Amino acid sequence: FGQQINVYPAVDSTQNVAREAAEQGAPEGTLFIAEQQLSGRGRMGRQWVSPAGKGIYLSMILRPNVAIPFAPQLTLLTAVALCRSLRTITALPIGIKWPNDLLIGQQKISGILLESATEDTRIKYIIAGIGISVNLTEKDYTEQLLVKATSLRLAAGKPFDRATIVGQFLLEWEQLYESYLAAGFQAIIPIWEALSVSLGKPTTITTHNETIVATPIGLDESGAIRIQLEDGSERAIFSAEMGQPN
Ligand code: BTN
Repeated sequence: FGQQINVYPAVDSTQNVAREAAEQGAPEGTLFIAEQQLSGRGRMGRQWVSPAGKGIYLSMILRPNVAIPFAPQLTLLTAVALCRSLRTITALPIGIKWPNDLLIGQQKISGILLESATEDTRIKYIIAGIGISVNLTEKDYTEQLLVKATSLRLAAGKPFDRATIVGQFLLEWEQLYESYLAAGFQAIIPIWEALSVSLGKPTTITTHNETIVATPIGLDESGAIRIQLEDGSERAIFSAEMGQPN
């Protein structure tokens, strides 16, 4: 990973640049990093604040030989690698909010966006996009966003070197990904659970057709989150939005 790193001063979104390269046959592990994104995007069509020189905006091409339903496992794996590397570099109490946010307290500092292209029942490629708010200051956010988001710099009171973070992340990521390809998702589950800030706290969970209050209790082998409803029954869900833990 990272043997081929393409760095750009400004792009619309590193996801788009990576996707074009993947379509042209670029191999797994090819990385795309931009100093600035003019239309960085998050999940659910949201915007990702991407000012020049202050954040990490990174996309990587993955070509895992796994069936389509298991793609969410890669989001969870990426969150673990990110959380570990950011904790190592910053010593900040960073936790994972299911499925793909990294938080300090209630505020988001990093997000993951997986976009995939499929062929029949196989994954052709996945573009794993990672945004980390490293050295953003209050001026970079709207007032509304400042309530929900922060940066490593704002949280720690000092700036961090972006290249060091990227290096540490790639190290952690490669190690986990190799173990995942060789031994499966099983070994990632307890690590993810230990870093999660979602477990054991009742929260609102919005799926494509309903909003419920439930308590996340762990992951299952496929990468779905197991939740306990107020009536004590259990369910596993793959995709939803979670409210803030109370
Ligand atoms: C989210 O939390 O909603 C996901 C945010 C993902 C942002 C990254 S920055 C690099 C890559 N390029 C994009 O346009 N988005 C992802």
